[in-house]
Amino acid sequence: MNKQHVYETNSFYWDTKGNECLGAIVLPFYGSFVSEEKCQLFGDVSGKKMLEIGVGNGQSLQYQGDRKASELWGMDISEQQIERAKQHLTACGLPAQLICSPMEEEYNIPVDYFDFVYSIYAIGWTTDLEGTFRRIASYLKKDGIFIFSWSHPIHKCVIEEDNRFTFNKSYFDDSWYSVSPDFCQGALTLSDRKLSTYINALAKAGFVIEEMIEETDDEIIQLHDENDDFVKRAKMFPVTFVIKARKL
Ligand SMILES: C[S@@+](CC[C@H](N)C(=O)[O-])C[C@H]1O[C@@H](n2cnc3c(N)ncnc32)[C@H](O)[C@@H]1O
Repeated sequence: MNKQHVYETNSFYWDTKGNECLGAIVLPFYGSFVSEEKCQLFGDVSGKKMLEIGVGNGQSLQYQGDRKASELWGMDISEQQIERAKQHLTACGLPAQLICSPMEEEYNIPVDYFDFVYSIYAIGWTTDLEGTFRRIASYLKKDGIFIFSWSHPIHKCVIEEDNRFTFNKSYFDDSWYSVSPDFCQGALTLSDRKLSTYINALAKAGFVIEEMIEETDDEIIQLHDENDDFVKRAKMFPVTFVIKARKL
């Protein structure tokens, strides 16, 4: 894996195509079938300092601003996403500090400062999970909270064939690959890490896990077309996981 190549491919994708695909990956949704409104992982954020990793178009940060967070910070590898977030948050009258940088790299973000660092479907893009978690831990105050969601690794291993779900990829295979998502054109480079890889990297960075969510929300799924392939998957196995961890 060539880190620079991954940065270039992925930032080009998010600069040009990314926003067509955001859909249900902005708060209050952690993914299509998991919602903060039900899970209440953040609780009351009024007066809290928040940093979002992979801020996208700023809608999740707006969600925190509407709930009276005292400071909104966001970082993203894509200049276009940062520009969209700036326009969106300005239009909402919400001041924010927005930083264009890969999450893996040093960028003068204050340390021991934030009450919450969070990320909705962005952490998995990192080329250096342990380094990214160490940086995130450094940004948080002691007992600060880190919340993130990402594609569940089981979801990435299973395909539907003849009305059955079958494994077509090893759960243990975390090699890097390029993909053109069928819901959107353009190429992305990524690796499908195991759940234990995330959990062990959190532990190494000095976090304790407070909660993990894998469930598909019954009420949300009923709002979707039951014949939709993604809905069928989400009824059988997790498509999203969410972890809430505390800095020790
Ligand atoms: C699914 S979007 C996040 C959407 C966001 N939660 C929102 O509310 O709009 C993923 C984001 O991660 C960003 N990203 C991808 N790789 C990154 C990296 N290495 N460092 C920082 N951001 C990255 C992309 O540019 C994209 O904006």
